[in-house]
Amino acid sequence: MFNKKPIIALDFPSEPDVMNFLAQFEEKLFVKIGMELYLQEGPDIVRKVKDEGHNIFLDLKLHDIPNTVKSAMKGLARLHVDLVNVHAAGGRAMMEGAIEGLEAGTEAGRTRADLIAVTQLTSTTEPQMQAEQGIPLSLSESVLQYATLTKQAGLNGVVCSVHEAQAIRKVCGDDFLRVTPGIRMLGGDAHDQKRIATPDGAKKDGSSLIVVGRAVTAAANPVVAYKEVCKLWEEN
Ligand code: C5P
Repeated sequence: MFNKKPIIALDFPSEPDVMNFLAQFEEKLFVKIGMELYLQEGPDIVRKVKDEGHNIFLDLKLHDIPNTVKSAMKGLARLHVDLVNVHAAGGRAMMEGAIEGLEAGTEAGRTRADLIAVTQLTSTTEPQMQAEQGIPLSLSESVLQYATLTKQAGLNGVVCSVHEAQAIRKVCGDDFLRVTPGIRMLGGDAHDQKRIATPDGAKKDGSSLIVVGRAVTAAANPVVAYKEVCKLWEEN
C-alpha cells in the first residue's frame, strides 16, 4: 500500500509544465495524472514522473465491456502506477475484469496497483441523474449503491465527495478507500467545485485520501501551499 500523502492533481497541458512544477519540490509527491495530460503526452509522461520517484494515481476512469477493460488494465499495470480507476457504472463484471487485468499485468515481486471506482461524478446533480440515467434514487443512495457494488467486486475503494465519505465508511468499512477531490483552503477560491472541504474537514468527514489541484498548483507558492495542505491533513 502506498503512502497517504495528499494527491496533487497534475492538471497541466503538457510535459514541460509538469516537470517545471515538480522541480520546485525537494520531496517526492503522490500525484494524479488525468486523461487530458495522458491523452496529450501518452504513457511516457507516466514513466517520466515515476522515474523521478513520485507515486502516481492514473485517473483514466475506464468504462467499457469487461474484456476490453481487462486488457487495458493489463497494459496499465506495466506502467507501475500506484492507483487506477474505472467507472462503477460499468458493472460488477467489468470491475472484476479490471482486477484480473491488473493482476495479470503486474510482474512477479511487484505489488499490484490499488483499484478504485468512480460512483457518481461530482458534477452530476440529483435531478440530472434521475432524468438522464433513469435512476429513481437520491444521489447519495445511488453513490452508496455503487460503493457497495464496488466493494462486492473486490475493489479497494471509490472516488466520492467528502459529503458521502462517512456513509461509505460505515457501509463498506474503514479499509475501503474514500478518495475525495474538491479540497480547498479556508478563504480559497472554490473555482468550479460545488461541494468543497478543507483538508482537515475532509479527514474529519471520513476521507482516506484527498485530491488537491488548484489550491496547490495555482498558488503563488505551490511548495508553501502544499506544506499547508499536508499540515492540515496529517496533523488532524
Ligand atoms: O483543482 P481541483 O482541486 O478542483 O482539482 C480536482 C481534481 O480532481 C481535478 O483533476 C478533477 O478532474 C478531479 N476530480 C474532481 N471530481 C471528481 C473526480 C475527479 O474534481 N468527481
